Amino acid sequence: MLWRLQHSRTNMIAYMFRRRRQSPHPSLGNVRHQSTPSQFYHNKQLELYASKEAKPLTLRQLVFFGRSMNEDRLFKSANYVRTELPVRIAHRLRDLQALPYVVVTQEGVAKVYELYWSAFEKFRNYPPVTTLKENEDFCNFLSVLLDEHASVIPNLSLGLSLSSPYLPPEKLDAFMRRMLISRISRRVLAEHHIALSEMYGGLKNEEPEEPHVGIIFTGLKVKRSIEKCVKLLTERPMWLEVGGRAAMDVHWPQVKIDGHLDAKFAYIREHFEYIAFQLLKNSMRSTVLKHQGVPVLPSIQVTIVAGENDIGLRISDQGGGLSSFQNEISNPSDLFSFSHIRNATRLEDSRLGALRMASEHGLRATVDEQVSHWQQLVPSKGQAVGREENSEPKDLPQPRIGIGLPMSYIFATYFGGSLELVSLDGWGTDVYLRLPKLGTNLEGIEV
Ligand code: COI
Repeated sequence: MLWRLQHSRTNMIAYMFRRRRQSPHPSLGNVRHQSTPSQFYHNKQLELYASKEAKPLTLRQLVFFGRSMNEDRLFKSANYVRTELPVRIAHRLRDLQALPYVVVTQEGVAKVYELYWSAFEKFRNYPPVTTLKENEDFCNFLSVLLDEHASVIPNLSLGLSLSSPYLPPEKLDAFMRRMLISRISRRVLAEHHIALSEMYGGLKNEEPEEPHVGIIFTGLKVKRSIEKCVKLLTERPMWLEVGGRAAMDVHWPQVKIDGHLDAKFAYIREHFEYIAFQLLKNSMRSTVLKHQGVPVLPSIQVTIVAGENDIGLRISDQGGGLSSFQNEISNPSDLFSFSHIRNATRLEDSRLGALRMASEHGLRATVDEQVSHWQQLVPSKGQAVGREENSEPKDLPQPRIGIGLPMSYIFATYFGGSLELVSLDGWGTDVYLRLPKLGTNLEGIEV
């Protein structure tokens, strides 16, 4: 293990030096020692952008702006994204440059730096958008970048897990939080603009099941999204790899929903479903593990509450609580940490291996993306009826990379919500999610 760490670090250092010779951009952890005029120029550009303030938005602003679209507003939206994203990326490049050298040379971190530097340069040099054709090209440009950056989270998570012996947990988690909040914010702006352009150009003319403006669903039905997640989790149970077994034949606990069943609010559906999916997955997995061999598993109770200012969700399971499966975790919020000091699983070989795989192939971040990926790989239960006896599913259970909970926490807090876990050790866990309903909170200040 130690050998592998040292070996990969040596490779990375060699890689960094190679890159430094080839690339014109400033190298990590070395900004004060610029040697070539080109590096000096590029760092000056970075400083210029990093010195600008980001212009955070609220959900409500994103909806209002997108509601009555015309060409002029569409170009305004494009040019806002074109000029705002390089500022936000510059802030994060600065953050990366400020990391200790031992951290920036870790596997994964340098890759993210390269991606961000390249995106920064592309945005900085992108000409203003003034026609519909230019906007179409700009949307294609954004889509390519969104795809290219699919590996950022596993790479960062891998790099920072490996670095956690060298950074105090508070620093490490604060850095990760800024990186991830900022990344969500950039993707929201890019995806929202693409969706607005599609709506304006009539490219997406199928009637959406729920009203939306860009990527924001203005009347998101909470119960319906929860049911969708439950359906996916139980129909395609390989998400729920339990104790090393593929979960095709395991019985699943029933999920009962009560409270304000008609609750609706304006939110980014992708974000809400990501959180609901991860939380339900954890509850199902721990319930199955805790009650092995029992014919009827205790159900999971989901309670929805539509408050005056927010939507609340409580998910209660009888999966034994955190002590059953997470021996080293003393405080539930340690599960949100990327540091091995707070969460020892960060340095487990299986986690690192799974992260390496995800870093290479990119992460299917949304529930819908994951579904279409699995649909290609494995038939659903319904489709499996005619499958030959003894035939194996085509793919193994999804490896656990351990970022579902920390990412859910980041998504929940991005627009000012909260996520808390309460463990009743020996019995079960209650998770409390609160998301603001009015859409008036600004994005996290760290964008
Ligand atoms: C990211 O996904 O990390 C981004 O920054 C995306 C953006 C370049 C469109």
